[in-house]
Amino acid sequence: MTDFDFESRIVDIPDYPEPGVVFKDITPLFDDPEALRAVVDSVADHFANAGITKVVGAEARGFLVGAPVAYRLGCGFVPARKPGKLPREVFSQSYSLEYGTDEIQIHKDALTSEDRVLIVDDLVATGGTAIASAQLVEQSGAAVAGFAFILELSFLKPRHLIAEKYPQEVFSLVKVG
Ligand code: PRP
Ligand code: ADE
Repeated sequence: MTDFDFESRIVDIPDYPEPGVVFKDITPLFDDPEALRAVVDSVADHFANAGITKVVGAEARGFLVGAPVAYRLGCGFVPARKPGKLPREVFSQSYSLEYGTDEIQIHKDALTSEDRVLIVDDLVATGGTAIASAQLVEQSGAAVAGFAFILELSFLKPRHLIAEKYPQEVFSLVKVG
């Protein structure tokens, strides 16, 4: 599945959601069954022997990729949600985005010290969401095993920022910039 042309399915929307940002629309990779299978299988195959026990995905687009990858890996999925969405006790982490700031949370009992966690999202831009997700994993006492994205905006240097804190593998199906 690694020879699938993911990049041609991603649509650029200039100046969305604000001037100067080129929004990368990955929804065409999800509405086409062949593309969806290629995305999920490519990420899951890459980490098939990495001993992953849980996948963490950040709201909302991280759910789209993370849950089917977890299913394919035969492990659990843990949603990292925006504040006020999870009903029980949570760990919280704030972070910066390409446009704005935000906060994500996971349930305190979702991960244990036994877990090896793959952090999955549709896209990595600054790396803020990925690092915040990894910090939530650490707050839970679990281990970060790696990071996987459909699209990496290389020109924003997210690898550099992630590597400052996490030496684990960063795997992206497409890199732009
Ligand atoms: C997008 C995307 C990633 C994040 C990447 O989510 O799905 O989670 O931004 O940006 P970063 O690397 O600079 O942190 P967004 O917060 O826009 O939320 P959404 O998935 O609900 O649209
Ligand atoms: N999330 C953060 N930056 C983004 C971008 N340029 N396109 C789509 N989603 C994003």
